[in-house]
Amino acid sequence: MPQTPKTPNFKMTARNVSVSYGTKLAINDVSIDVDQDEVTAFIGPSGCGKSTFLRTLNRMNDTVASARVTGDIKLDGQDIYSPDMDVVQLRARVGMVFQKPNPFPKSIYENVAYGPRIHGLAGTKADLDRIVEKSLRRAGLWDEVKDRLTDSGTALSGGQQQRLCIARAIAVDPEVILMDEPCSALDPIATAKIEELIHELRGRYAIVIVTHNMQQAARVSQKTAFFHLGTLVEYGNTSDIFTNPHEERTKDYITGRYG
Ligand SMILES: Nc1ncnc2c1ncn2[C@@H]1O[C@H](COP(=O)(O)OP(=O)(O)OP(=O)(O)O)[C@@H](O)[C@H]1O
Ligand SMILES: [Mg+2]
Repeated sequence: MPQTPKTPNFKMTARNVSVSYGTKLAINDVSIDVDQDEVTAFIGPSGCGKSTFLRTLNRMNDTVASARVTGDIKLDGQDIYSPDMDVVQLRARVGMVFQKPNPFPKSIYENVAYGPRIHGLAGTKADLDRIVEKSLRRAGLWDEVKDRLTDSGTALSGGQQQRLCIARAIAVDPEVILMDEPCSALDPIATAKIEELIHELRGRYAIVIVTHNMQQAARVSQKTAFFHLGTLVEYGNTSDIFTNPHEERTKDYITGRYG
């Protein structure tokens, strides 16, 4: 029996987005929808603009002096580049996890408590404790750290640090989580834990993940976008992209012919 197609539920929409660094065009006219209930993977060879495009989704490119973004990006229908968008608030709503785990040089507890505190999400110390525990549980780290919350976040293993960074993103109650190669510095066991976590977080947060690992994209995502030389070559259901790509360039990339 053919499956009934799911009704799309778009959390973010990007239309005709281009990004240049000085005179160099890094992303050229990309349009894409990010579904609330799915994991979207961005794949493509090094330098094709995956990170650049990912960073447009929470205006992280604002921090790069030479970067210029044009086009239209909406979060729940709201233009995120509008002058009255509060960028600090936006980055809480659209959180980010980087390639290299980057915990603050503070305690495990403080790493998670910092965001909720500055965003005023906890009225009391007990509230804050609850948010910290809930976030660490959701990030699959609580059992490993509950007896050492005052230890430094940087004293954890790489995989634990990455889950701490995920807990830190979760703590401010985001709507979207962007992950830029979150497993590339991790061993296979730590990688498997993050992938499991992505499965558990799906549905609660819209998730976008950049990965060079084709198997990972196939395992964790429902939608895949293939980028090449700054353009979006093909975007669709992950199963279609990997088994029946329309574009020759997609086929070449996923079969390892270049990259
Ligand atoms: N801060 C920057 N200043 C100038 N150029 C940049 C900057 N960041 C990226 N670029 C350029 O933009 C293009 C796209 O880079 P980007 O980092 O987005 O690619 P990527 O697909 O994420 O690559 P990788 O897979 O290696 O991470 C590259 O040509 C890169 O050199
Ligand atoms: Mg990158």
